Amino acid sequence: MSSPKSVVSSVVDDARKRIASSTENRVDAISQLCLGRFDEISADLEALISPTQPIAVRNAAVTELASFRSPVAGQMLIAAIPGLPAGTRRVAIDRLVSRNASANAVLESIRSGLLNVTYLSSQQKQRFLSHPDQRVSKAAKELLGAESDRTAVLGEMKSVLAMSGDVGRGQIAFRKVCVSCHQLEGHGTPVGPDLAPLRNRGAEFLLTNIIDPSREVDARYEAFNVVTKDGRTFQGIVIKDDESTVSLLQSDGKRIDIAKDDVDLLQATGKSLMPDGLEKELTAQGVADIIAYLISLE
Ligand code: HEC
Repeated sequence: MSSPKSVVSSVVDDARKRIASSTENRVDAISQLCLGRFDEISADLEALISPTQPIAVRNAAVTELASFRSPVAGQMLIAAIPGLPAGTRRVAIDRLVSRNASANAVLESIRSGLLNVTYLSSQQKQRFLSHPDQRVSKAAKELLGAESDRTAVLGEMKSVLAMSGDVGRGQIAFRKVCVSCHQLEGHGTPVGPDLAPLRNRGAEFLLTNIIDPSREVDARYEAFNVVTKDGRTFQGIVIKDDESTVSLLQSDGKRIDIAKDDVDLLQATGKSLMPDGLEKELTAQGVADIIAYLISLE
């Protein structure tokens, strides 16, 4: 009769074989692989979270990795975070914040620039700020406590709400500044969401979203940077990420397909593809006009 240890070893070996065979098998086999001891399978997981893997594989591997208590697992998660889509990044950060040592390691990585502070959701920031370990909460106040400059600009732009906007001028301004990403009345490219259904949400909602688009980044619209091995850089929403190709939808509406073999870096910005600072291309009156135009839509 075989001992429990050798049963686990053969389960792990079987998982390794399935992982080597095909992408679909790989996703299924990852939880089986993780029945093994962490030190025995950490090298396998390291390979499975690499950006060269299809996104489905990376997501499954990160979710499993997050269940291990080892500090090495924490370091591997931190290193993987910049390349992950928002949903999986959240799983990784939630796991890291829940342990004192790894919560500290996240803050260290923000300090050193390895992680972007915009990777944290507002709930996660709150968890760091009110962390039971005082070293964590103190460092968090220093690093995460600052208000974003967008909050200040939004305060300054509140006057827009008292202005009366002109629908005709608003349509012209919208077609100049916004139609590279929003399609309305047959004009523009639908990179971002349809704005027509928002007319009932009110002027304040529209103003907040125009001035501070990354306040709540919708995972579908998060901008990623890709740097290729020959030094070209691209930014866009990831619309495909599989074995062979990563495809970006860029802010001019053009799609670019990049071979996985050519990718040197794939990194989330933690921000919406809709840029900050659009108000600089418009006057306060111009913003009021655009809001009047959006509210007037049928
Ligand atoms: C470079 C592309 C781009 C440009 C230019 C752009 N947007 Fe956006 N916009 C987006 C994307 C992408 C989103 C979705 C953001 C998210 O949820 O993370 C968005 C979201 C919005 C929303 C919120 C929609 C919702 O359903 O919550 C509003 C309102 C909006 N944009 C208005 C504007 C206006 C007005 C302009 C011009 C002044 C503009 N946008 C210019 C890409 C753009």
